[in-house]
Parts: sequence; structure tokens; C-alpha cells
Amino acid sequence: MTVSLPALDRFDIVSPEARADIHRRYREMRAHGPLHRFTDPFSGNPAWVALSHEAASEVLRDTTTFIRDASLLPGAKPRPPGPRGLEMITGDMVHRDPPEHTRLRRLVNRAFSSRVVDGLRDSVRTIIRELLDAVDERDDFDLIADFAFPLPVRLICEMLGLPASVLPRLAGWGTDVLADDLPRMLNAANGLRELIDPYIDAREAAPTDDLLSHLVHARTVNGERLSRTELHSMSLLLFLAGHETTVNLLSNCVLTILSEDGVRERILADKGACAATIEEVLRYDGPADLASVRYVSVDAELHGVPLAIGDRIFPSLLAANRDPAVFADPDRFDVDRDNRASLAFGAGVHSCVGSRLARMEVHEALDALFRRRPGLALAVDRSALPWKPSRMMHGVLALPVRGR
Ligand code: HEM
Repeated sequence: MTVSLPALDRFDIVSPEARADIHRRYREMRAHGPLHRFTDPFSGNPAWVALSHEAASEVLRDTTTFIRDASLLPGAKPRPPGPRGLEMITGDMVHRDPPEHTRLRRLVNRAFSSRVVDGLRDSVRTIIRELLDAVDERDDFDLIADFAFPLPVRLICEMLGLPASVLPRLAGWGTDVLADDLPRMLNAANGLRELIDPYIDAREAAPTDDLLSHLVHARTVNGERLSRTELHSMSLLLFLAGHETTVNLLSNCVLTILSEDGVRERILADKGACAATIEEVLRYDGPADLASVRYVSVDAELHGVPLAIGDRIFPSLLAANRDPAVFADPDRFDVDRDNRASLAFGAGVHSCVGSRLARMEVHEALDALFRRRPGLALAVDRSALPWKPSRMMHGVLALPVRGR
């Protein structure tokens, strides 16, 4: 059966109107079929988007049919080297397939174990306390600029062992690298390489116990280590994969807690309710929409739709997480529901390496924020909040709050 395909092209997926109303749009399209055509606004290429939970999971998990590295496609011509900096953006493990991906992932997995994440808790609490102290005198502040944005960038900086003096330079790059704008992306990648090189040299000469040192000295079972280019890519990846996603999760959580009846009272009364709230926000209004593009490596059919070699396909994590075939009454926020099938952190070999860290950071942040300011409220109407004009990220640009 071939399903009819209403065009996603009928709306601009990154327009502010579409982003503010993305769940309704996806719901209407998913009702017509799990896969839709659209023009990727970044590359201008035609692509598919997978909107059902089943189709999105299959694309994420089947690393034979759906691959990340287009140069492995049958008949692919060798790519000419791109502008300096591009190798950092496209050379990381999210852009690789097994077995290359497996080698890189093993080298970093240990740095995100529960023991390491627990060991970071005190640093996280200190950063949170300092950020909340800084707005203590103010009745109004921007939850994003003053709290959610600086928290993950300060933490990843500390994890990598970079001094606080580099923060002003680092802060803008996370957003630049995710911007759909190549010159800004290259500028950020090259800036980070220049900044981090002396620190890599120093860790090579004298190991410390930070993440950068771990990466510089990590060895595979065969004794292989990361090349300098791989070290640049890995640092950039950790920095950008863990930044804006965490900002969005924290701000989407605060937005939900301030909008949904009874949630604030529950999290203030019971610490367990805070963890459950985070899990449900991850499903209901997760921080990431489209996962990275996959390329179809063999002629295939996915849920009745024929796909050709080289077709591009993006799984929508937001749409999958509101699929009524998996989550009953999916547009209802329900802290008590079973949301273990959520795809907010992806699935399969590329599933998020930093999920434990992100959950811990956001839990500590919400706990401290609402214990200190239990009467916090939105300072503007929810409908006036500007959503990010992005196909990958799902979060608001600013979140004005007031009260204590
Ligand atoms: C709420 C916060 C976060 C969310 C929602 C999130 C989401 C995701 C998703 C959906 C993927 C899979 C992408 C794909 O398959 O195309 C991913 C991968 C990844 N994430 Fe996260 N992430 C978060 C926080 C973090 C943090 C804090 C770090 C590290 C500091 C991190 C590091 C990574 C890395 C390195 C990958 C690539 C894994 C691989 O290719 O094997 N993420 N993340």
C-alpha cells in the first residue's frame, strides 16, 4: 500500500508560527501517514520526515538501511575537502556508522558513567547556587539568559578542564554551531579548535583527571587513540550536543511547571515527582525535534512508502513522542504515565551518551529553583513566547519569569 502524502512543504517548518504550533501540525500530518516529503530548509534538499513512533524508531535503530555517512552510499564519489572547520563538524561520531562509530563511542562512554555523573553533582550545585544568587535581588529575570543557558556551558567547560575565563568566547559558539548558517558554524568550529589546542597539548604532557585528559589518553582495546582531528571533533560534539538540548529541557520543564495545574505542588512535596516530571516533559515537549539526517543505503520500503538509495530521512522525536499508537491521549501532560518508550534521547547506537548528565543537571536545577522561589510565575502570556526557528531544537528563545 502506498499512502497519500500531503506535502509538509505547505508549511515552513522553521517559521515562528509553525514552531509555536508544531504538535498540531505533526498530528494532522501523521494522521495521513508516517512519512512525509519536505524540503530541508538548511540544505535545500528534498527529504523525508518520519512522524510515527514505529517509523522513527526503525530509522534510528536500523543502522544498515539508514546510515549517517553519505560517503558510504553505493556509488558515492569521494567528497572534495570542504572549508577548514567542516571536518570538525562532520567528523564526529554522530556522523559515523559502525564499526567506526563503535570505536569512537567506546572511548567516551566511560566519561559519562553514573559514577562520573554523581561525582559532578557538587559542581553542578555550586554553579546553580551562583546563578540563582546573581538574580536573587531581582523580581524579574529571563530564565534562559540568566539560568538555563549558562548552566550547561559552565559545566561542560569545567568537565573539559577549561578555565572560566574562556566562557565569554565559548558561550555564543554552541548556538552558532547549531545555526543553519555555514559561515557561523565554521567560525565557531575554528574558534573552538584554536581555543582548545593548547589545553590538549598541556594534557598530553601532564594528564589530569578532567574529561579532556581522559579523551587525550583514552585507548581502545587495540591500543588506538583519538587523532588530533578526532579530539577536536569530539570536544566540539560534547560541547554542542550537551548545550542547547539541556537549555531547552530545563526551560521546557519550567514552562510546563508554570503552566500545568498541580505540578509545582507535587514537585515541592516530593523529590520523586521532579524526576517523573522531567521524564514526562521529555516526552511531551522534548528539547529536540528532528534527529540527525539518515541516508537510505538500499532500495527499501518503510510502512508502505518506497525509498530509494540516497534518500534523506529525518526522524521527528517530537512527533514520535506524541504518537497515539504508543502513548494514550498523547497531548495530555501526565506525570504518572509510563513514558519509557520516549525517543527524546534518540534510540539505537547513537542514543544520547549524556542523558544521565542532562537528567541530573536539570533535576538539581529545578529542585534548587523551586525551593528558592516557590512562587515563580510567567511574566508574559504563554502564547507570546517566541519559539526557536529551528528544525532540530524545540524550545523558547526567552522565558521571562517573575516572583519568588
Ligand atoms: C536534555 C538534554 C539532551 C537531549 C534531549 C539529547 C538528545 C540527543 C539525541 C536525540 C541524540 C541522538 C541523535 C541522533 O541519533 O541523531 C543525542 C546524541 C548525543 N548526545 Fe545528547 N542530548 C542531551 C544532552 C546531552 C549532553 C549533556 C551531552 C554531553 C555532554 C550529550 C552528548 C551527546 C552525544 C555525544 C551524542 C552522540 C552519540 C552518538 O552518536 O553515539 N547530550 N543526544
